[in-house]
Amino acid sequence: MIDNTLPLTDLHRHLDGNIRARTILELGQQYNIALPGNTPETLLPHVQVTSNEPDLVSFLTKLDWGVKVLASLEACRRVAFENVEDAARQGLHYVELRFSPGYMAMNHNLPLAGVVEAVIDGVCAGCRQYGVQAQLIGIMSRTFGEAACQAELNALLTRRENIIALDLAGDERGFPGELFRDHFRTARDAGWHITVHAGEAAGPESIWQAIRQLGAERIGHGVRATDDPALMDYLAREKIGIESCLTSNIQTSTVAGLHQHPLRTFLDHGVPATLNSDDPAVQGVDIIHEYQVAAPQAGLSPAHIRQAQINGLEMAFLTPAEKQAIR
Ligand code: ADE
Ligand code: ZN
Repeated sequence: MIDNTLPLTDLHRHLDGNIRARTILELGQQYNIALPGNTPETLLPHVQVTSNEPDLVSFLTKLDWGVKVLASLEACRRVAFENVEDAARQGLHYVELRFSPGYMAMNHNLPLAGVVEAVIDGVCAGCRQYGVQAQLIGIMSRTFGEAACQAELNALLTRRENIIALDLAGDERGFPGELFRDHFRTARDAGWHITVHAGEAAGPESIWQAIRQLGAERIGHGVRATDDPALMDYLAREKIGIESCLTSNIQTSTVAGLHQHPLRTFLDHGVPATLNSDDPAVQGVDIIHEYQVAAPQAGLSPAHIRQAQINGLEMAFLTPAEKQAIR
């Protein structure tokens, strides 16, 4: 159960993985882009997971129709705005929205810096309208390789004061973190926080790499940390946050079933693990479902769930004063 006396946060949500089916349809019509369905019912199986995917890479293809309709900067602004609207409807007090400018830009050759600006614009407008607090995390899509990631980073740096952290997402197995050491050094020098998708499709060595070579303060997913007792101790001792996304991990076949999910083990071990959504529109779930349905199925007691909610504020990329203001 969600504790209504505590702030509700979501620290791991891809705004380019959370584009409403209805918006995809409307943008498809507006820009004359052929889609595999013309109604929500016929489009939905193409943009939402219907049964678990065999692996992360095939799960990620479900996000592709959403970005195919981003034919203008105004479209990018719209999906950013709607992400804040969704967060408000779900009762979130604070959300960290992440996005890959290269992924959003790629189908229509949009200017990367323009995408960054449009996303910031849309999120700021949403925050003003709905009173939700949101911050943005820039993603480099590792699948595109080092040079394209550098271009994403450069675009994000044009608005460095509006970005709170840098992340690395995409095909973890094919593109290990060590390829991106220089990118993350630049990000740290810019004063950004660091979070990295690791231990999702690859093993604990990928998490060590994210921490030691990239400077990660939080880890996206991190499920494979439980394979390495020394890493589990390290995460707890150094207060490295784990951004758990329960339904996502089942749909990517990262974890066989909710009852085998390691979130409870993280919490029992004192690792500051949090509960988040990942790509809610693609997954067909929201953060409320993750708290009320997925977490109990993953074996979390009400005390575990409350701890995850507390950790959500503790591990937010906010200053102590900002956290105090949300409380
Ligand atoms: N991009 C969107 N969702 C992702 C995930 N679960 N892992 C890696 N990259 C992603
Ligand atoms: Zn993610």
